[in-house]
Amino acid sequence: MPEKIKIAVLVSGNGSNLQAIIDAQANGDLGPAEIGIVISDKPEALALERAAKAGIKSVVVEKTKELSREEYDEKLAVILREEEINLIVLAGFMRVLGEKFVGAFKWKIINIHPALLPAFKGTHGIADAFLYGVKVTGVTVHFVDEGVDSGPIIAQRAVKIEDTDTLGSLEERMHHREHELYPEVIRLFAEGRIKLEGRKVKIV
Ligand code: GRF
Repeated sequence: MPEKIKIAVLVSGNGSNLQAIIDAQANGDLGPAEIGIVISDKPEALALERAAKAGIKSVVVEKTKELSREEYDEKLAVILREEEINLIVLAGFMRVLGEKFVGAFKWKIINIHPALLPAFKGTHGIADAFLYGVKVTGVTVHFVDEGVDSGPIIAQRAVKIEDTDTLGSLEERMHHREHELYPEVIRLFAEGRIKLEGRKVKIV
């Protein structure tokens, strides 16, 4: 492993997880990991402003009608190779990456999902769990494989749902949990402490 692990953070919107990663880096809590680039598929993403404020390079790669899904993924891949990225961190990136891309960066892509996978996959993990009436939900960081929200689970943190919770209050606690967990996992990855054995992930 190289001394510094260069990460790319892929975003589409608010970027609060990106902010948590930026803050962790500033506080020395990201270990040997270093944000090399932020990539957004949306030019209006607030995440881009967060990157700019922190002096981090960013680029917008929009999915236009002219680009096929594979061509889009290939554009991303070219940038990631040019930047010599060691870890791709999906942080609210609203696109599903194709099989070829995932294969090319096997076990070097991680995602954060706002539910205890494999429950409540998809784009509305918090609301789905809340409306279902579960008493405990949580956040999951997992490796990205060819499926959607289906890769090996690296870490999970539980969040209790109280009777007094509204969707808004639950969302707030969930995001707080995400912001603690994601930088921790990035650090573990950068320290070479995440080992994959079949579907199981061990922290060594
Ligand atoms: C987070 O809830 C994350 O779990 C999900 O998308 C949301 C992104 O939020 N994948 P932000 O853009 O990091 O604020």
